[in-house]
Amino acid sequence: MTKAYAQGFSSQHSEISISELPIHGQFPTWLRGTLIRNGPGQFEVGKTPIPHWFDGLAQLHRFSFGDGKVSYGNRFIRSNAYAKDNQTGKINYRGFAVDPCRTMFQKAFALFIEQEPANNTVVNITRLEDDFIAMTEFPLAVRFDPHTLETLGVLDYDEKVNAQLATAHPHYDFARRVGINHMTRIGRKMNYDLYALTSKKRTKLASVTVKSPSYMHSFSTTPRYIILADYSFKLKSLIQLAFGDKPFIQNFVWDDTEDSHFLVIDIERGKLVAEVPTDPFFCFHHINAYEADDNTLIVDLSAYDDAHLIDQLYVDALLQQDYPQVGEFRRYTVPLNGGRASYEVLSDESIELPRINYKPHNGRDYQFAYGASVQKGTSDFLNQIVKVDVKNRQTSVWYEEGCYPSEPVFVPAPNAQAEDDGVLLVVVLDSRAGNSFMLALDAQSMQELGRAIVPQHIPFGFHGSFFDI
Ligand SMILES: [Fe+2]
Repeated sequence: MTKAYAQGFSSQHSEISISELPIHGQFPTWLRGTLIRNGPGQFEVGKTPIPHWFDGLAQLHRFSFGDGKVSYGNRFIRSNAYAKDNQTGKINYRGFAVDPCRTMFQKAFALFIEQEPANNTVVNITRLEDDFIAMTEFPLAVRFDPHTLETLGVLDYDEKVNAQLATAHPHYDFARRVGINHMTRIGRKMNYDLYALTSKKRTKLASVTVKSPSYMHSFSTTPRYIILADYSFKLKSLIQLAFGDKPFIQNFVWDDTEDSHFLVIDIERGKLVAEVPTDPFFCFHHINAYEADDNTLIVDLSAYDDAHLIDQLYVDALLQQDYPQVGEFRRYTVPLNGGRASYEVLSDESIELPRINYKPHNGRDYQFAYGASVQKGTSDFLNQIVKVDVKNRQTSVWYEEGCYPSEPVFVPAPNAQAEDDGVLLVVVLDSRAGNSFMLALDAQSMQELGRAIVPQHIPFGFHGSFFDI
């Protein structure tokens, strides 16, 4: 049976620009700026399906707000993969879960030397000074014009980094005025490397040598620390990765005989100061973390008992199987002076694609997290938005039959006093109408303020940010 949400995994080839979308309800007149989102826009090349959600060809979406009006535009990133794949009708570059047939020489060459890497930067976007960049899980980034979404080329850093992987979830350190990202060096020596980022420069803050790296999609920061969750999902064999036939992610193996660990890195000292074991778990997204006292960190995550979710995010599986229960809202207490980390669950509802009121609360004590979620008792795709009050352990929900929301992005109201004084901006697929809309929720009440109707569907994407432009 066709899933109601199948349209979310179908390509959107139409690039449009609309100056004023029809609106039901009202968008706040104080809301001024632009939300830019990233995600796949094309799920096949010629007749060949792109197998995994994370490998679709990147498309940017722009919603601009002002005077209660909303404009919209979308545009593919003109990556080398977009150009060459569409020109040749086949997949040409190694991705997250796809590996086109290559000669042994090409495989060795691609791993150890920076041959032209794929720059299908499909996962997230951010701003570094005046540069707006799209990111994926490699160290490169692609610049784009935030107004037209035109691709401007690969970001030209002043120096190369010796790393093969990077997260698409850099943090921003407002005190030090730099981005912070985690990269992984895979080679004879394996390292987790932490970098400070500006638009031109990447400066190494710390380096942690590991026997075998795990696949890490995001991490946490506090004013003093960078916190990595080193899952029991490790690179099995460098030789296999280099010369084997398996796509990138299939070289990582779940091993629940191994503990997971929280690696705590002191930013100023550039040193690993604690390696705290805990029972095996996996997650894509950290929610937030803070220093409860000198010897205790709190780390909130959207967590899973194992890494099987990665297999369930192949497009075929998403369209044919029941979607699994998504992440559990776990609060880990991480002792820095010995002992194991333990967790409690903060909400009855699941949470994925989590967001917080970032600027005042990232790395600090906080009260509210927002995310997409699957309604309890259903095996549907992400079909509701949750707001979790972590102080009072209460969860409120926005749900509408037939609707499939994406990541909710919190935008604070001007001069907001309360942490949740603002709106949530959410792209929603309306499976009944066959198109998408931009939903504005009052973040305090979780009630709808308004929706702006897009005249076509927006494929399910990953992440975005709001800018005052
Ligand atoms: Fe992500």
